[in-house]
Amino acid sequence: MPDAAIDTQRMEKIVSLCKRRGFIFQGNEIYGGLNGVWDYGPLGVELKRNVKDYWWRVIVRERDDVVGLDGAILTHRAALKASGHEDTFSDPMVDCRTCKARLRADQLPEKNGVNQCPNCGGRDLTEARPFNLMFSTQLGASADPDSIAYLRPETAQSIFVQFKNVLDTARKKLPFGIAQIGKAFRNEINPRNYIFRSREFEQMELEYFCRPEQGLELLDYWLEERLKFYENIGIGRDKLHVLTVPDADRAFYSKGTYDIEYAFPFGMQELEGVAYRTDYDLKQHQTASGKPLDYFDEETKARFIPHVIEPSAGVDRTVLALLCEAYDEETVTDDKGKTEVRTVLRFHPRIAPIKAGIFPLLKNQPELVTKAREVQALLRPLMNVFYDETGAIGRRYRRQDEVGTPFGITIDFETLGERDPALRDTVTLRHRDSMEQERIAIADLPERLSRQIR
Ligand code: GAP
Repeated sequence: MPDAAIDTQRMEKIVSLCKRRGFIFQGNEIYGGLNGVWDYGPLGVELKRNVKDYWWRVIVRERDDVVGLDGAILTHRAALKASGHEDTFSDPMVDCRTCKARLRADQLPEKNGVNQCPNCGGRDLTEARPFNLMFSTQLGASADPDSIAYLRPETAQSIFVQFKNVLDTARKKLPFGIAQIGKAFRNEINPRNYIFRSREFEQMELEYFCRPEQGLELLDYWLEERLKFYENIGIGRDKLHVLTVPDADRAFYSKGTYDIEYAFPFGMQELEGVAYRTDYDLKQHQTASGKPLDYFDEETKARFIPHVIEPSAGVDRTVLALLCEAYDEETVTDDKGKTEVRTVLRFHPRIAPIKAGIFPLLKNQPELVTKAREVQALLRPLMNVFYDETGAIGRRYRRQDEVGTPFGITIDFETLGERDPALRDTVTLRHRDSMEQERIAIADLPERLSRQIR
């Protein structure tokens, strides 16, 4: 592990690249920024969408036993009272009496065994008190306590609340899951580490319902599935650490929890939790609502509340891990012997925001431009491609390397068949990581590239 200074530098380079190339911007930047809120730019939204699409594909579309849900963000107060969020979803907070900063009590730096304010170094801190992380709002025009609603702090609760509706309409038998991707909101006391801990973020959550006796086995099954997912988007198992959450740190209702952690430049931190939540949530909602949320087993004729395994991942944290994993700088030597540092995002082609750059060798040659536009039209329905005709070809390659585009397609005079008729309608295909180039027929591009990005 590099020392802290180098890590900070790496993180700064990633943040700077993300802004410069349009991945991520500070929310409301022109008004001074909104702390803990981020906007995804043209490339960031593609990257994020590819992550969510792949998750949805492997968790929902490619399985018989999982269905999807898109629940509302505004949530009934009673639901979040029943789930325990209204009373206990809080972090311990202290105030610094010197600089008035509000701080998370469990993240304070210590000096000689005494807690310090990370802003001013002051030691005059208040006692810790709980600060509820939920954002509340008001539904309708009246301001009475009954009009309070919350912005959901996790996507999971709408899955539990709609359990019966989904069960009745999707006609699934245990074990089966309900999956959801969507926004969640937490009024974090100290949002930090870029998009790692923010106040508005997205989750990809699966609630996988099962019989009580299947719980522990399915917990391990889902941990394995989730590790495969990260491997398939370019974060190998050797880059992840699985923490078995100790009994004392688990929620009281959980019979087992794993945290999947990634070595971010600012330290080993949680990417996803895989938790066996037993029947806690459905039981709570059944008791509070008075509506049955049980399951009727046709074979045994028994009624019971299913247990649940919950793999819960953060979209933004996955995006950040992918950026950290992909970022690379290498020294390369050009044809004239000149060396330069090439910045490259080595994204897996599956999640790269742009799959191929399309370059006519010269922009003032109409035949080259027309052909390049034809290649663009051929590939566009299949993948996100980027047409670029400005600047030297080497510079165009570098610009795409920097945003992680795995393929470069150059349309040159050989494509027009001017030098060798056998090469008519072929192009140069350049590979981002090796920088190797090969000749390929335009007609073969759709199949060849589609296979690699799927
Ligand atoms: N339903 C369970 C649940 O929400 P969690 O550990 O609080 O569990 C799950 O959150 C995942 O959501 C985390 O592993 C993380 O990836 C993401 N997440 C949680 N809080 C976040 C925040 N403030 N900013 C960004 N991502 C967050």
